[in-house]
Amino acid sequence: MDEKSIKSCNSLSELEKLRVSIFGKKGYFVGQFAKMKTVADKEKKNFAQKLNKDKEYFLNLLNSKKMQLESQAIAIEMKKDRVDVTLFNSTSEAGALHPVMDTMDKIIEYFVSMNFSIEEGPLVEDDFHNFEALNLPKHHPARDMQDTFYFEDNMLLRTHTSPVQIRTMLKTDPPIRMICPGAVFRRDYDLTHTPMFHQVEGLVVGKSGEISFANLKYILKDFLKYMFGEVEVRFRPSFFPFTEPSTEVDISCIFCKGKGCRVCSHTGWLEVLGSGCVHENVFKAVNYKDVSGYAFGLGVERFAMLLHKIPDLRSLFEGDLRLLEQFR
Ligand code: DAH
Repeated sequence: MDEKSIKSCNSLSELEKLRVSIFGKKGYFVGQFAKMKTVADKEKKNFAQKLNKDKEYFLNLLNSKKMQLESQAIAIEMKKDRVDVTLFNSTSEAGALHPVMDTMDKIIEYFVSMNFSIEEGPLVEDDFHNFEALNLPKHHPARDMQDTFYFEDNMLLRTHTSPVQIRTMLKTDPPIRMICPGAVFRRDYDLTHTPMFHQVEGLVVGKSGEISFANLKYILKDFLKYMFGEVEVRFRPSFFPFTEPSTEVDISCIFCKGKGCRVCSHTGWLEVLGSGCVHENVFKAVNYKDVSGYAFGLGVERFAMLLHKIPDLRSLFEGDLRLLEQFR
């Protein structure tokens, strides 16, 4: 038993050997306490006191050495496993937003900057919100414009984001200035249609005579310039049951600058959204009186395809990394 070898010990296994030689069954102290028998009676007390003192001393010495060696071992392990996050790693691969979500964000950014609120509605809708209240009564031929997925009991997958107009008007008093981004569903599948796609709906309502077609024209022109840069914007008379008058909005073709090409079918124009002044029957359905307003709706995938020159809409939903990697 010696102090020096404990103090200079530098491995836990060595220390354990030393501990056994001191405190083990055949160790120093067991041997010493056995000697008590042979000690003269008057010496016994002193002898035992000294042994106990020594025992405590060595116990402390071993323990503190053990702690020291253990924390040294931990420090060494930590050093080995440390990851230097500042090191450059040429193989790291950052992800990116999907082009549809990226386009959606840009659209939302514009309207939020114009003080529009963002509203949401359910994907599983009822007939009233998706059709009836939007001036599309049962058997109205315009229902054919939208091939619908039906459930039982008049429930369906919403075919457009327009039902959120109705929900918002039913729960709030005018004025309203809202957009609703979200997924919609139709029974369609080809180069330019997928059964699920995304729309952004817009609705502005104020007092009667306060919101006019001129306001609609201004905001949509400004918005389309924000999205596509310096383009011509054209309002073309059209029909939607929920607006009167209704217009479809075109921009000059961003590929040929209006000269005519394959993408714009040699017309020089690209159709990008539908809009109009809110039909009085829609206001009647939500019990709004003495108001005026405009609404618009657009397909986010169409915007993404134009912005990123993607020829096949379906490729946006196939999750092919070779396409997605280009949007990093
Ligand atoms: N809901 C229409 C659709 O899905 C898009 C639309 C057109 C929305 C005109 C509107 C609007 O709010 O005024 O085809």
